[in-house]
Amino acid sequence: MTVRVPAKVNLQLSVGPPRGDGYHDLVTVFQAVSLFDSVTVQPAERTSVVVTGEDAASVPAGRANLASRAARALATSALRRKGKSAVRIEIRKRIPVAAGLAGGSADAAATLVACNELWGLGLTQSELREVAAGVGSDVPFALLGGTAIGQGRGEQLTAALTAGTYHWVLAFAAGGLSTPEVYAACDRLRAARAAAGRRDPAGGGISQAGNPGEDYQPRLSTELMAALRSGDPSAVGPLLSNDLQPAAVSLRPDLRRALNAGREHGALGAIVSGSGPTCAFLAKDARRARELAVSLTGAGVCRAVVQVKGPAAGAAIVVAERP
Ligand code: C5P
Repeated sequence: MTVRVPAKVNLQLSVGPPRGDGYHDLVTVFQAVSLFDSVTVQPAERTSVVVTGEDAASVPAGRANLASRAARALATSALRRKGKSAVRIEIRKRIPVAAGLAGGSADAAATLVACNELWGLGLTQSELREVAAGVGSDVPFALLGGTAIGQGRGEQLTAALTAGTYHWVLAFAAGGLSTPEVYAACDRLRAARAAAGRRDPAGGGISQAGNPGEDYQPRLSTELMAALRSGDPSAVGPLLSNDLQPAAVSLRPDLRRALNAGREHGALGAIVSGSGPTCAFLAKDARRARELAVSLTGAGVCRAVVQVKGPAAGAAIVVAERP
């Protein structure tokens, strides 16, 4: 059973203060893009994970892998036939690891769809999404695909109405960023700004915040949603926003060069994707995306460049072989 699953970019990522459980409430706009991993599952004596392709060596193997956690979570929640839940999970990666593109979450989502089919569970999309939310905040969106608003930790989804096709250039950085570390850096930057504001209230800083992020309530950009409905990338580009971007750039100052290079070479919008370090650039059309990809490659500001389109479909079965 083979399932193809897309990467995502966040067109908006509005992050609130840290919650008691270590997560942050957020409002985000996800878009799935045409950069796919594929995951094959087959019955086995014991569960194992084999990874090939992009960054294969840096994907955690065995029980720590998000895909094997997804298979276990599905078996626990839905499988009555005990002892039949071991699977060999083969992941062919094109989505880079720890890149802000939700590659690990994508592989977990693909595993859920594949095991649901392999084990004949017949779980609906919304039942699968519930299991997915327990595996990781971005896993439900990888099931859904398209363009969607995420709330809560990002797992509460509402499909968004959009028009047209969006042409993106993704600039992969060397190495990855840890999502918890980027969120922690965001809290620290906000706390420092709040402290500076308290010292100098007349300076226009944020004066009240005692806790990191206290003044930051996540809010959906209705302007961005209207631009997405219009299908005009020139309207969407300037409205892209990511509250984690200053934190990602503080941990990886080289990203500033990549973002600037994209803007200089005509990107309509330039943004760090999720917690980074991938940078996503929006182009007017396929031809301009191609030109931008060539320019970014020539500028030597990143490890590799790919051209993708959004919105792409969520996790879907591509091969179903039944004995
Ligand atoms: O849900 P997931 O396991 O993908 O989240 C990874 C980490 O990212 C969390 O442990 C947390 O540190 C951070 N995170 C967060 N707020 C969110 C989503 C993730 O702080 N809404």
